Amino acid sequence: MPELKCPSCEQPLQLNGNAWLCTNGHRFDRARRGYTNLLLAQHRRSRSPGDDKAMVRARTEFLQLGRYQPLADALLKDLPSQPDGDWLDLGCGEGWYTEQFARQLGSAQGAGVDISKFAVDSAAKRDKTLTWLVASGARLPLFDASLSRVIVLFTRLFTDDIARVLRPGGELIVAGTGASHLMPLREALYEDVRQSGFDASKFLDDRFCAIDEKVIQFDWQPQSEQELHNLLTMTPHHWRAKPSAKAEIGKLTGATMNAHFVIQRFRKQ
Ligand SMILES: C[S@@+](CC[C@H](N)C(=O)[O-])C[C@H]1O[C@@H](n2cnc3c(N)ncnc32)[C@H](O)[C@@H]1O
Ligand SMILES: [Zn+2]
Repeated sequence: MPELKCPSCEQPLQLNGNAWLCTNGHRFDRARRGYTNLLLAQHRRSRSPGDDKAMVRARTEFLQLGRYQPLADALLKDLPSQPDGDWLDLGCGEGWYTEQFARQLGSAQGAGVDISKFAVDSAAKRDKTLTWLVASGARLPLFDASLSRVIVLFTRLFTDDIARVLRPGGELIVAGTGASHLMPLREALYEDVRQSGFDASKFLDDRFCAIDEKVIQFDWQPQSEQELHNLLTMTPHHWRAKPSAKAEIGKLTGATMNAHFVIQRFRKQ
């Protein structure tokens, strides 16, 4: 597994019983669920940063329906079929994708990091061997050039720290939404639908070179109002859309919904 760095003094952490300790006496207890909180109070902008409980629950309920499996399959196809070094799922959320990556890349070699303790608490249930951490992507508790692969799905790109922890030749895999993602949902929520797709290269610089880009598109029919509400709650539209529009979203039950994703791969120079 990737060696962990003490967030207070940057010395290596050693696991002793159920606590991570550094030689300067800093101590971080591993929760019973199997994750460790390495986010220091002074590095938090709010008391509970990241996704809240309701968002985490909505994401779990939606993802377990398997609607986004074609995306997970496309990501898995781009990964080596067996472990080849330490890897990180950055902004891992409640771990639905992370658990699938671990089957290929190895649980013992992997870490899932998210700033939301609710998300990591839920993710840790999935795989006890993986290293699950509450930490910020802007300040990863990992050493320089220690990782072969960093995967970032639908989370902000913290370019400097990703560049720091990837070894030269290591890979960054990013998934984001394409311009037409969830178009029927967005048309139901907004009078004026903004056409914008995510492009990771806008956030990266010459420390990374592009390997390839894949577009994944598919349709499905949401089967219940609950499914649509869960889908809405796990997207930024949850904050942006008017409550009156959100309340109506159940009317899309049985209608065709579309997914439009872009997977981009980069090599650390
Ligand atoms: C849209 S969710 C994606 C979760 C997961 N990758 C997935 O696709 O299911 C974005 C995640 O980024 C996390 N996040 C937000 N700010 C973060 C930060 N500074 N460092 C690490 N994670 C962060 C949130 O808590 C949330 O779980
Ligand atoms: Zn320390």
